[in-house]
Amino acid sequence: MNATPLAVPDDGPEGIYTRGSGAAREWWRVSLSERAQMFRIEHGHGEIGAGQVDIDTVVDLDNLEAKLLKWRREGFVSEAEAEAAREDEARAARAGSAFAADLQRAVRAAREIREAREAAQPAKTARKTVRIGNVEMPVASDALVPRLNEAYLFTPRADDIALDIVENRRVMLIGHTGSGKTSFVEQVAARTGHGVLRANMNGQTTVGDFVGFWTVKGGETVWVDGVLPVAMREGYWLIIDELDFAEPSILAVLTAVLEPNGKLLLKERGNEIVTPHPSFRLFATANAAGAMSAFRHLYQGANLLNEAFLDRWRVYLFDYLSKDEETEVLLRTLPALTPALARTLAAIAADCRAAFAREDLASAFSTRRLIDWAELMLRTGDAERAAAPAIYAKVSAEDAALIRSIIRHHAIFDASPDASSAS
Ligand SMILES: Nc1ncnc2c1ncn2[C@@H]1O[C@H](COP(=O)(O)OP(=O)(O)OP(=O)(O)O)[C@@H](O)[C@H]1O
Ligand SMILES: [Mg+2]
Repeated sequence: MNATPLAVPDDGPEGIYTRGSGAAREWWRVSLSERAQMFRIEHGHGEIGAGQVDIDTVVDLDNLEAKLLKWRREGFVSEAEAEAAREDEARAARAGSAFAADLQRAVRAAREIREAREAAQPAKTARKTVRIGNVEMPVASDALVPRLNEAYLFTPRADDIALDIVENRRVMLIGHTGSGKTSFVEQVAARTGHGVLRANMNGQTTVGDFVGFWTVKGGETVWVDGVLPVAMREGYWLIIDELDFAEPSILAVLTAVLEPNGKLLLKERGNEIVTPHPSFRLFATANAAGAMSAFRHLYQGANLLNEAFLDRWRVYLFDYLSKDEETEVLLRTLPALTPALARTLAAIAADCRAAFAREDLASAFSTRRLIDWAELMLRTGDAERAAAPAIYAKVSAEDAALIRSIIRHHAIFDASPDASSAS
């Protein structure tokens, strides 16, 4: 059975926190100290009262909170919390649903983790190199570094791309929406300390926005660099999102800088030459280019990118994560989820994708959507209610009905390790 995360119960932190059983049982007891605002903490092994107490000290609330977090990491469970979990399981067994019990437990854990996170310090990334997959990458320290998502999972495909980045290759990531293309680049940048600029081509991005333009400021005509020369001069990583929606004039400008160290000629600025900073890197993402062209009907307005253009990139196909990988991502992103819940949710996503591949469903099921649904589920405690804004309202009525039946099937029939012990 998976350990219930340690709680700071609503009525205060006092109580007993244990791990292991029998002779290997280890416990911490927290009680109010005689001194105001202070807590007494005692530590021992075996039965409380029978064995020897090897630590007996007094701490303040800040210190105690840090200890509660540490104990949680070490696998200690509050007795009150363990009792509540046992009650949940018994109730769910009576109702015939381990999923519901798992979810209620996870909701409580989510609340605690949210609170603990708010108190935690942001992680530092100031190291000389950092390992991405099996690749050691040098670390810079730019402004505009994306926010670190510690839960991001680098799958084996990361190695090749990381090497391409080190070698200053142009990298294009293609795949369905929400398969992790943009976040891959951002998370490598977050770990290596590089600033990232993004330009989205699905909209009204003009060549002027991209390259730059002249404008009048305080009676003077001044040049404003577009996102491409800014990234090149300052050494940022530029992600061009949805490149298959870009206008041809933008593709033409890009072609010049696709060679490593390719320079940009600003014709509009009297043929000024922009030489790329050594840290400058160029990435593109696309949903329907190259090997994904078969799905162009799903991404209305996407253009075919010609082969000569594609040949200037390393193009990687981003499939959705496997069921095991997605389970891991769910558990890392939302530590309150139990492994059984995460597995069930990943299985639901996998089934929806299989239905999409058979064309029974018209909508793809992204990792983004799955995480969003799970997050909402942890807030509402109700999988069906959470699915309304996270899933059903985004798809056709027929798709919603099919997805609902897939969810019901899994929520009712998936074997949870807790269910077998309760029945
Ligand atoms: N490997 C992963 N590890 C952790 N989270 C992931 C992973 N892949 C995807 N995600 C989650 O999915 C979300 C969506 O990913 P992202 O925005 O990178 O998708 P995308 O492929 O760029 O989609 P789009 O084509 O719609 O732009 C991320 O913010 C992240 O929460
Ligand atoms: Mg994206």
